[in-house]
Amino acid sequence: MNDNLHQLRCFGCGSRIAGAEAQPDFRCTQCGELFEVEYPGWVQRRGPDRPNPAALKWLWRERRCSSETLDQSGVWRYRELLPILNSFGNAVTLREGNTPLYHLPRTAKALGVDQIFAKHQGMNPTASFKDTGMTAALSVARERGFEWVACASTGNTSAAMAAYAARAGLRSLVLIPEGKIAWGKLSQAMDYGAVTCQLKTDFDGCLAVLTEVVRSAPIYLLNSVNPYRLEGQKTPAFEIAEAFDWNVPDHIIVPGGNLGNSSALGKGFRELHELGLVARMPRISVVQAAGANPPVRSFAASNGASLEALEAHTRATAIRIGNPASWRKAARVIQDTHGWCIDVTEAEIAIAKAELGAEGLGCEPASAVTLAGLKKLRAKNLISSSDTVVLVLTGHTLKDADYTIDFHRGTLLTQEEAAGHEKEITALRRNAVVVDAAPAAVLAAMKDMSI
Ligand code: F0G
Repeated sequence: MNDNLHQLRCFGCGSRIAGAEAQPDFRCTQCGELFEVEYPGWVQRRGPDRPNPAALKWLWRERRCSSETLDQSGVWRYRELLPILNSFGNAVTLREGNTPLYHLPRTAKALGVDQIFAKHQGMNPTASFKDTGMTAALSVARERGFEWVACASTGNTSAAMAAYAARAGLRSLVLIPEGKIAWGKLSQAMDYGAVTCQLKTDFDGCLAVLTEVVRSAPIYLLNSVNPYRLEGQKTPAFEIAEAFDWNVPDHIIVPGGNLGNSSALGKGFRELHELGLVARMPRISVVQAAGANPPVRSFAASNGASLEALEAHTRATAIRIGNPASWRKAARVIQDTHGWCIDVTEAEIAIAKAELGAEGLGCEPASAVTLAGLKKLRAKNLISSSDTVVLVLTGHTLKDADYTIDFHRGTLLTQEEAAGHEKEITALRRNAVVVDAAPAAVLAAMKDMSI
């Protein structure tokens, strides 16, 4: 069987090319826009390549009990909806996906919303959602015979790419902004053997440099401008739909940085809908940090029609991005699903992260924008008490341990940033203390620190 049923369609001018014809920077030669993967065989309602919804649901459930390597991947388990390889035997997998969907009863009670869940993508092999996209795009790189792969990154993409490249026996090059990523992520790229260059610029500058590099050498670009990344990253939409027995939740809330993830999840739900696996699309909202919010400004100024880049600042370093590559795709998802694009402050992010922590769900700051955003939407009555909401937590808490420690020590936020939130912050902080090695001292510390 030929597993490869796809072509690439330009998101700007609509021109179509074969997968192997894409330029190294994945930009359209006609209009400069990005491509997305499409599957012509799905268009004909009764065509032989159009997937059968009932058969797929049965097959995917059966595969949960399978001991085959591909079936154990939460991405390749759904491989009928990502036929991007000539042979699925070329897939490079670390058993990504199959991440937990946690109920958040305390948060739900506090916000007066019946059902709030967290889809924890930090529970992937390299501890972020990037693994789902990387297994797909790196498999394409291997199948096409590349020896080198590369990405610019705020940390998580590089960790994922380095791991998958190492598994496939490929060399990897990472460009990261010097001093602006969490150390845990840099350590992963090093551990997995990537050539790691810290550039004296920001993420947007790193991507610009890398674009030139891949145009002048046979290196496969693995940023989310690569449309195959999004094919892998759409699969959490399938997992969420499956977890709700193919009745999609009302609202999905996702962080926004380079906007690949929101675009991918939107594509995933759209395909499920078009193929008849689900009856409707969920609302998909994107939340950003207030200092890194070009799409929020774009929606305020032009309802998502144009975007102005800016210099980004936020301690949620994963989403410190001022010129998001996939903004047109994400804007379409937000518009089509009637979602919102909003931003939250540094204090709101830190508080939300600590609140998730207090539910036993650690995540990195960029993930916590989802809860901060949900609180904001609820306060504006844009989410009703009967809604079912899923927050997509994108990275694990250990990715950025310094952030957590700084928050609990009280050194994370400036006074101006914390202004108006002092009570909440005091209630959430759990500072660690050094005490004498004596039971009485420990008991006294417990008394002091319980609120
Ligand atoms: N959350 C985390 C933990 C991330 O690492 C990123 C992006 C995002 C959210 C935003 O996702 O870019 O698809 O909108 N990190 C990239 C990186 C940019 O290089 O690791 P997005």
